[in-house]
Amino acid sequence: MSDVIWHDVECGRYDADFALWRELAAQANGPILDVGAGTGRVALELARRGHEVVALDRDPRLLGVLADRAHGEGLHVETVVADAGNFKLGRHDFAIVMAPMQTVQLLRREGRLGFLRSARAHVAPGALVAIALADALECFDADHVLLPLPDRLIVDSTLYSSQPVALRDHGETVAIERIREILTADGQRIASQDILHLDRVTIAQLETEGQAAGLTPLPARIVDATEEHVGTSVVMLRG
Ligand SMILES: C[S@@+](CC[C@H](N)C(=O)[O-])C[C@H]1O[C@@H](n2cnc3c(N)ncnc32)[C@H](O)[C@@H]1O
Repeated sequence: MSDVIWHDVECGRYDADFALWRELAAQANGPILDVGAGTGRVALELARRGHEVVALDRDPRLLGVLADRAHGEGLHVETVVADAGNFKLGRHDFAIVMAPMQTVQLLRREGRLGFLRSARAHVAPGALVAIALADALECFDADHVLLPLPDRLIVDSTLYSSQPVALRDHGETVAIERIREILTADGQRIASQDILHLDRVTIAQLETEGQAAGLTPLPARIVDATEEHVGTSVVMLRG
């Protein structure tokens, strides 16, 4: 269960990209595949607006929570446990295949190329593949900068706080180091470290890789940074 809570703490409250996903979904006017959907931050938002959404993730626990939340709101979101780097859903009619936040930067090169091929195979002719990439992965550590604000969430009177403390260069990846703290109502405090590796991928590189998978680049879109989150470029590829 704690994985689900940390997912909600670190991803669940971000909403700076909603305007873009809503706009793309409204224009696309057809079924949407949300890849790396997690607990459904974007999938549920689009389902609330009447869109048909299929949510794909490799983690069945996150998708289980997504399905419960959809059910609780009287929504239907189909969930699929699969690897973003190689999926076959047996349909080719999606108006958008989208990968919000940094999901595509978790796949390493082979997984990313597999994702692009899989996405290409699932979109209708002329439909869209939209992929978010974190901007400005500039390295820092706690000794040298004012740290970003922590992500925080209270669940059952327990405070969960996730503080990014460093971004370290590892060549082809950047390691985001976080201190996760749990503060219970009776004063217990538990701290642990979490490290997430994100691939360094540029817009141009992803566009070139998309072309190799049979997709055509369109101008990328931008989601501005917030106090808690770096900005995002959304690479847009036409099927
Ligand atoms: C940064 S979270 C984004 C969650 C959600 N899309 C959002 O925007 O809030 C990345 C998600 O990708 C999923 N994921 C990571 N690697 C994956 C893979 N190889 N196949 C499918 N899902 C994957 C994780 O389980 C997680 O839910």
